[in-house]
Amino acid sequence: MDVAIETHGLTKRFGRRRALDGIDLTIPPGQVFGYLGPNGAGKTTTIRLLAGLLRPTAGTATVLGLDVVRERDRMQARLGYLPGSFVGYADLNGEQYLRYLANLRGGVDWNVVTSMAKRLDLDLGRRLGVLSHGNRQKVGIVQALMHRPELVILDEPTTGLDPIIQQEFLGLVRDVRDAGGTVFLSSHIMSEVEAVADHVGIIRDGSLVLVDSVEMLKRRALRRMDLTFAGEPPQSLSAIAGVRELTVSGSTAHLAVEGSTAELLAAAAPHRIEQIVTHEPDLEEIFLSYYDGRG
Ligand SMILES: Nc1ncnc2c1ncn2[C@@H]1O[C@H](COP(=O)(O)OP(=O)(O)OP(=O)(O)O)[C@@H](O)[C@H]1O
Ligand SMILES: [Mg+2]
Repeated sequence: MDVAIETHGLTKRFGRRRALDGIDLTIPPGQVFGYLGPNGAGKTTTIRLLAGLLRPTAGTATVLGLDVVRERDRMQARLGYLPGSFVGYADLNGEQYLRYLANLRGGVDWNVVTSMAKRLDLDLGRRLGVLSHGNRQKVGIVQALMHRPELVILDEPTTGLDPIIQQEFLGLVRDVRDAGGTVFLSSHIMSEVEAVADHVGIIRDGSLVLVDSVEMLKRRALRRMDLTFAGEPPQSLSAIAGVRELTVSGSTAHLAVEGSTAELLAAAAPHRIEQIVTHEPDLEEIFLSYYDGRG
């Protein structure tokens, strides 16, 4: 199998409302794909189509080489899925609920369940109905991953998780990838996607507006730098292509560079530089420009 997820012209209308408009997406196996977009953009609709829970109005989707409509049952058996608003069964505790699902699915190693519960600091003895939102979400994550699926589709998996558990969750995602699996996850938060995804797609008003690797995005992103000189920063810095937002305080120039820093460094080199501080490229800015339509 050379493609984990493939869609052609995938479209979904609800009445007259077009929630998804001709999405073409190809995701190879072994990739972590972050699916980003504002509220109402069509993330959940895409995910429900891929999971075989909605029928497309037009277009096609195959998941693990199986058509999501015609071969739905076989596809679902191989999929791990976390819905956007996971609730489970309120009357069962975590262990009862997960054992119930594990028996339905078959092939679940219970040690995987207990070790994931431990990593996520999840108490399997409490009823789902009394769990906090974040703790219930952990049960949802465990049920999506417990059968070690080769493809996992997660709709806003980190909602409600505290920062430490969020990190643990990202570790679980990396484990899936390290085992050769594919992860498709939706989110509103660029920084968390950036930490784990190889590629990102941005959707707005039902259309994909960007698909790119995180590496390429970082190359395009603004990189903030602080250059401290022995004397006054040279005037010439402001004339360099790609340099923006230049301010000078004392002997330090604060600026942002778009693209390569080579020209800037060449211009600065003849002057005595005492310190260069380079900040991580800021993807948030690219991202927001696509969100509000400037991209
Ligand atoms: N069952 C439905 N009936 C009618 N309209 C729907 C239905 N489900 C979704 N929509 C509409 O489709 C559009 C896309 O919704 P969707 O839930 O896919 O967005 P989303 O990107 O997941 O948003 P959020 O970030 O808020 O979760 C929205 O305009 C929504 O109102
Ligand atoms: Mg949603």
